Amino acid sequence: MCSPQHFAVEYAINPWMDPTAPVDRELAVKQWEGLRDALTGLGHEVHLLDPEPGLPDMVYAANGAFTVDGTAYGARFKHDQRAAEAAAHRAFYTDRGWRFVAPVETNEGEGDLAYLPQAYGGLVLAGYGFRTALAAHAEVQEAVGRPVVSLHLIDPRFYHLDVALAALDDTNVVYFPGAFSAASRRVLAQLFPDAVLADGDDAMSFGLNLVGDGRNVVLNAEATGLAGKLRDAGYHPVPVDLAELKKGGGSVKCCVAELRP
Ligand code: ARG
Repeated sequence: MCSPQHFAVEYAINPWMDPTAPVDRELAVKQWEGLRDALTGLGHEVHLLDPEPGLPDMVYAANGAFTVDGTAYGARFKHDQRAAEAAAHRAFYTDRGWRFVAPVETNEGEGDLAYLPQAYGGLVLAGYGFRTALAAHAEVQEAVGRPVVSLHLIDPRFYHLDVALAALDDTNVVYFPGAFSAASRRVLAQLFPDAVLADGDDAMSFGLNLVGDGRNVVLNAEATGLAGKLRDAGYHPVPVDLAELKKGGGSVKCCVAELRP
């Protein structure tokens, strides 16, 4: 995770960002601390990346890399405004002895890449259409040696896979079908017959931008409807208020780069 100490909405690279709307940075830091404390309270270890001035989106740490079994596949951001974040993530992994694969293709790390360690022996779900290049899907497959399933995102409000779909545990997902092409919806239905299905309200309240650990599901507090569906499916929803960070187009999952050593 990376503190929103320098968070701002100074440019608009997704439909949620409005540079004319005020942002309360202090409140953003408080809400982010609430997320960090919720994760540590559930027994998870949180490592921190130093925030850098001039990189207002650095709080969305999920976009900096994608890790599987000790390999970190680095990010290459689509927009110039975020390009410099990649080096900070790269240093994090190389300093700690991870095998680091530098990308050639444009990709935004866990923003567009999800991993299910026990589905089909280890499966990567990869989004494209707005940020990550389709060619990066082949690159990540070579980097981590797991099959990659490409999913086509078709709604600009759901510009990253992680605002439309999330891993709930090692085998199952929750997703909003409306964010995907008809063919990709069919692929998801075939692979995940027991998936939890979210609706447009769940997606618009950034409910899908969640972190699940198998039992607990940490999600945006606005997503009360989705929290109920997850409870019905046997999970334990843990709501966290991240309203300020929604102004940048992100929530829980965007703030958390999961480490798979
Ligand atoms: N403002 C950031 C961007 O548009 C938000 C990134 C959100 N992160 C995520 N994993 N969806 O790039």
